Amino acid sequence: MSHIRGRFHKPADKLVAEYTASIPFDWRLYPYDIAGSIAHARMLAKQGIISDKEAEIIISGLASIREEIEQGKFQFKPELEDIHMNIEARLLEKVGEVGGKLHTARSRNDQVALDLRLFAREAISDTLAKLRELQRVLISLAEANKDIIIPGYTHLQPAQPVLLAHHLLAYFEMLQRDADRFSDCLKRTDVMPLGSGALAGVAYKNIDREFLARQLGFSQLSQNSIDAVSDRDFVLEYEAAASLTMMHLSRLAEEIILWSSAEFNFIELDEAYATGSSIMPQKKNPDVAELARGKTGRVYGRLMALLTTMKALPLSYNRDMQEDKEGFFDTVDTLLSTLEVFTGMVKTLQVKPENTRRAVEQGYILATDLADYLVKKGEAFRTAHALVARLVSYAMEKDKPFAELSLAEYKVFSPLFEQDVYSITIESSIAARDIIGGTAPKQVERALATAKKTIGGFRGEK
Ligand code: ARG
Repeated sequence: MSHIRGRFHKPADKLVAEYTASIPFDWRLYPYDIAGSIAHARMLAKQGIISDKEAEIIISGLASIREEIEQGKFQFKPELEDIHMNIEARLLEKVGEVGGKLHTARSRNDQVALDLRLFAREAISDTLAKLRELQRVLISLAEANKDIIIPGYTHLQPAQPVLLAHHLLAYFEMLQRDADRFSDCLKRTDVMPLGSGALAGVAYKNIDREFLARQLGFSQLSQNSIDAVSDRDFVLEYEAAASLTMMHLSRLAEEIILWSSAEFNFIELDEAYATGSSIMPQKKNPDVAELARGKTGRVYGRLMALLTTMKALPLSYNRDMQEDKEGFFDTVDTLLSTLEVFTGMVKTLQVKPENTRRAVEQGYILATDLADYLVKKGEAFRTAHALVARLVSYAMEKDKPFAELSLAEYKVFSPLFEQDVYSITIESSIAARDIIGGTAPKQVERALATAKKTIGGFRGEK
């Protein structure tokens, strides 16, 4: 029987042991748990709470346990509940009673808070690096297709022509906001909880919390022991930021799915990023994008689950909080793998210029430009809008594009139309949007340069 059941006369029911154990999933906290324990042992020795010799025995015991785990030789025991007790029990087996000194001035409540914060810190840094990679390939794709013009859509109806690069940079902006959110969440994750004990703080006055923080690379100490053991905001913040990122990726996924359909046919996915059908030999399916779109729901679900778990929990630690881990791990795994596979997919996709050109030339995508033309000749915008609407309806009836209407036909709708109406083209439409944030090639060129600088600024963060 383990020492956490000291006061009991019988072991936990087998079902209870299984029900309460977190080791099937929290085993992956082992590197953080061991790093935290090593820092703690060093601190205890520095403060004279244990001897240097004892610290040395404990630390080398912990290091050899890490090795055992890494080599797959460690036997995780569900009856020991969690990663903390599994490691501690093994330490006692290896080094004897002195191992029992490690848990001086510590509780599993501040220990698990520490482990999770260490894990989260690394997850944020990995996430920022992967966001940056995806931003980088979006910039490359934009640069490699600088002259490509596509129909810009509202309501999924062709609206106005835009540069493909401009469209891609919209995703760059979204991912930049995501990166900002993760960086911001790092500030509140970067808080060292050890010393909080079970909830009230530990009763050893000479505990050096600053020393612990320095060793573990934290810039702040938690300021209230009750809050420190009951706070999971940093997990929720990561999950919230991850939900927004997945939402952005699901929109990109949706466009990749549409654009690679036979109907749009704007892009060709690399074969390595497409799948076939088991029945229809002609199929080339965008499963990666579809799964990313699907996994977005799963990530939202994890956020909702933990918000609900934390709702109305009395202070301080409650076992409910053990439910934070699976959702958090799954969110991190899902987000990181989605970012990674998207980077490869975007990097290798090919744009089909003939098809984007055909799409942008069909229909009456220059209607706004015709209205703007009349406005520049003195017409009120609303009147110009109505005139061009009638012109569109006429052209549709005749089954003619604007360029094939005669000047006489134009003049039926407004005497302000002159020969120069024929100089309105897809290219002139784009070039006219020459304002900050607009799709004019000059502006997009500037936006690309800014984007590259932003990415450069991220360097060294990891
Ligand atoms: N496995 C526990 C968790 O994940 C660790 C903390 C346990 N503390 C306790 N008092 N039972 O939350």
